[in-house]
Amino acid sequence: MIEPAQELSDARSRRVVSWAGSKGEAAVVSEGEAVVPEDLDDVVEIDPTVAHSARMYDYLLGGSTNFEVDRATVDRATVAVGGIDNARASARANRAFLARAVRYLAGEAGVRQFLDIGTGIPGSDGRHADPQHVAPDARVVYVDNDPIVLAHAHTLLTTTPEGATAYIDGDLRDPEGVLAGAKETLDLSRPVAVVLGLVLHLVPDRDDPHGVVARLVDALPSGSYLAVSHVTSEALPREVGEMAGQLERAADGAFVTRDRGEIRRFFDGLEIIEPGLVPIERWRPDGAGAKPRWLSATYGGIGRKR
Ligand SMILES: C[S@@+](CC[C@H](N)C(=O)[O-])C[C@H]1O[C@@H](n2cnc3c(N)ncnc32)[C@H](O)[C@@H]1O
Repeated sequence: MIEPAQELSDARSRRVVSWAGSKGEAAVVSEGEAVVPEDLDDVVEIDPTVAHSARMYDYLLGGSTNFEVDRATVDRATVAVGGIDNARASARANRAFLARAVRYLAGEAGVRQFLDIGTGIPGSDGRHADPQHVAPDARVVYVDNDPIVLAHAHTLLTTTPEGATAYIDGDLRDPEGVLAGAKETLDLSRPVAVVLGLVLHLVPDRDDPHGVVARLVDALPSGSYLAVSHVTSEALPREVGEMAGQLERAADGAFVTRDRGEIRRFFDGLEIIEPGLVPIERWRPDGAGAKPRWLSATYGGIGRKR
């Protein structure tokens, strides 16, 4: 039986469970009186009649943690972009971008602390971009606000003996709460890579996503990094705009496409790493896989705090 390393917090906006186990070992995550995922009903509230971003993305990646409403919504909305295969290609390209970005950060850039916000359902595609694959001594904090991701958090919380992982049931729009939880596992006086993979389009302008990212980056020391992938409708305004509109109307949250200038502003004050903010397929491609037939409508980039 693996013992949770620490039971950390039960603050209003976050629930934190930290873990010190070994990769591959069966784990039970306990959180207060509740046990996840066996007693799921005690801790999560899920409406299976309303589509949700994490589950729709899981469907695109070929996962099994999704409902009929998620599949039907994606099937309908992706007609606008030429069909679900194009959207699937985009989701896979995003996963590949994140894997390359994490490889760069934990490898060439030498970062050992990661804060992955909007983690998504682990295992949707069977190859989570895990910094510990590159650097076993990495310390990683995962954050998501979806109860289904919380229910699967135990699969994120296995760690190498040299490293550490933690999961925060928290919200990107509350960066101070996220950082307060993260500092239980990360040393925030040392560089941290903040990873925001396909999550900022889910934060509407009224929630000030640029201010939120700036508050996160401001709290971190020089030598920290920000990695972002973000949907854009720039190249295909009609098609992607229509898909985004449908998803926003059918699902339970915003779906905001932004142009390159708006996405670039997330990196204000940071030094942008080569090749800059580019379509994700063009960010340091590693030659794996065939040349994409469909260039996904997603920008990706990494910035470094001086
Ligand atoms: C499209 S998935 C992206 C998953 C993963 N980052 C990737 O790029 O493969 C978006 C995730 O962000 C989460 N999310 C959406 N809004 C959030 C918020 N305000 N705070 C934290 N997580 C959020 C969703 O629950 C979902 O799991």
